[in-house]
Amino acid sequence: MPIREISTRPYNDQKPGTAGLRKKVAVFQQPHYLENFLQSIFDVESGLRGQSLVIGGDGRYYNREAIRIAIAMAAANGIARVIVGQGGLLSTPAASHLIRLRRAGGGLIFTASHNPAGPDGDFGLKYNVASGGQATEALTARIYEHSRTIQRYRIVEGADIDIDRRGVQKLEECEIEVIDGVADYAALMQSLFDFDRIRDWLRNGHRLRFDAMHAVTGPYAQRILVETLGAPPDAVDNGSPLEDFGGGHPDPNLIYARPLVELAQRADAPDLIAASDGDGDRNMILGRGIFVSPGDSLALLAEHLHKLPGYRDGLRGVARSMPTSRAVDRVARALNVECHETPTGWKFFTQLFDAGRLTLCGEESFGTSSSHTREKDGLWAVLAWLNVLAATGRSVRELVEAHWRRFGRHYYARHDYEGLPSSAALRVLQTLTDANAHLVGKSFGEWTVTQADEFSYRDPVDGSLAVNQGLRVIFGERARIVLRQSGTGTEGAVLRLYLERYENRETALDWNPADALAPLAHIAEECAHIAELTGRRAPSLVT
Ligand code: G1P
Ligand code: ZN
Repeated sequence: MPIREISTRPYNDQKPGTAGLRKKVAVFQQPHYLENFLQSIFDVESGLRGQSLVIGGDGRYYNREAIRIAIAMAAANGIARVIVGQGGLLSTPAASHLIRLRRAGGGLIFTASHNPAGPDGDFGLKYNVASGGQATEALTARIYEHSRTIQRYRIVEGADIDIDRRGVQKLEECEIEVIDGVADYAALMQSLFDFDRIRDWLRNGHRLRFDAMHAVTGPYAQRILVETLGAPPDAVDNGSPLEDFGGGHPDPNLIYARPLVELAQRADAPDLIAASDGDGDRNMILGRGIFVSPGDSLALLAEHLHKLPGYRDGLRGVARSMPTSRAVDRVARALNVECHETPTGWKFFTQLFDAGRLTLCGEESFGTSSSHTREKDGLWAVLAWLNVLAATGRSVRELVEAHWRRFGRHYYARHDYEGLPSSAALRVLQTLTDANAHLVGKSFGEWTVTQADEFSYRDPVDGSLAVNQGLRVIFGERARIVLRQSGTGTEGAVLRLYLERYENRETALDWNPADALAPLAHIAEECAHIAELTGRRAPSLVT
């Protein structure tokens, strides 16, 4: 099988966003489109030659074809060994773990996360480096620049690798090792959590329901929750991965996981109800009669993590993305540990993990993880919660209410305005930027603006500066409004408005979140004129 050099022309639109290169499937299917981007990675990351490369994806439509191309190009570009998940499946956190475990030079993860899949859906590619984390902004910028001038790519023609058969196959000089994509990850989880205790908890009649949403976590949940921990088979819902995710939207939140929210409201609801997203990095947590907001989940895990075997030494530090609720900050203060506020996107956390300054972090967008891997990790969060429930003997509701009584409550919501013309999105951002110039000191009812600016972040490890990371209006500790443009959308511009309100009065701890946040939504409209400038009377999505 000859290695061929194929000439090509640049596409000029291969600029990765918050979570890699993400486009409609049809865009990826254009001639040489994927090949151009892959070759740009191989050219810029010339150090990959002679090393191992991990390859896998979330199983969505085009995953197998993309992996076939990636393997053939890896072999043609001097990769010594490709480690690929059987069937092409690897969850994002499992891939990140595998890169570290096998000391690979990097990894290619094919996913568009929670975005719908299928021929009309989305596809994506993330390149992760040897640390297991996503490529830095600087590296992705270099890959993008390279993709704008690319003239040729290298591929082994007629490569015929069977990714469903475990074991080693040879392609030119390259060894292609097809592995069980679940085993190493499952072993890692077992090393972090008290599986015996969780098993007892389940044996004592507690119940669990996990929704894999027909995406990649199905096989992981089946192996860990059912086969290892002894949960009954019906504890895992929608456990078989499908190329179109069953036509659903595997984004575990109040809208797309509505059936779980309804289940949680029933008197006979399971003790823990959870879900993960398309590629297994997000999580949603509910208990009987209660939804745990991601910000609260992060704060609660920070409070209890030292009770779990992998974290007995306590926390080195915690972090949250800027728009995420400040609930975890209070726990960090009580525990006397460092608390970092980073821009949106996981890559800012990985730097802190690598420097040994972080144990736990999370985002409002249903992402939580720890130092065990360099991506957010949905099943990790579910197991952490299970272990906290088993270790404390308390219910989700009891734990959350005790947390609010001790620390106060951060009411929180995110309003998304999707598919906007980019001119309208820019006008809204500009309007708030202009308003910010004279908001400090201004009072809105009981709240006074203490700070109004655009967030920028100086990385404490390498000193790099990230600017334009979202507009914020801060009312001291009592409330906050944040507005930013999404970096993961594939259609039009998406604006995200984040509202946060803090209350510590006993009488205010069980308000309805929508009511508690209504005054802040009004203030946001007064300052940014979203409805007026976009013509949208309401957000397309509230989570
Ligand atoms: C969104 C989330 C962000 C998350 C990212 C990747 O990015 O807001 O927290 O890290 O997806 O899952 P955004 O579209 O807001 O740029
Ligand atoms: Zn995801």
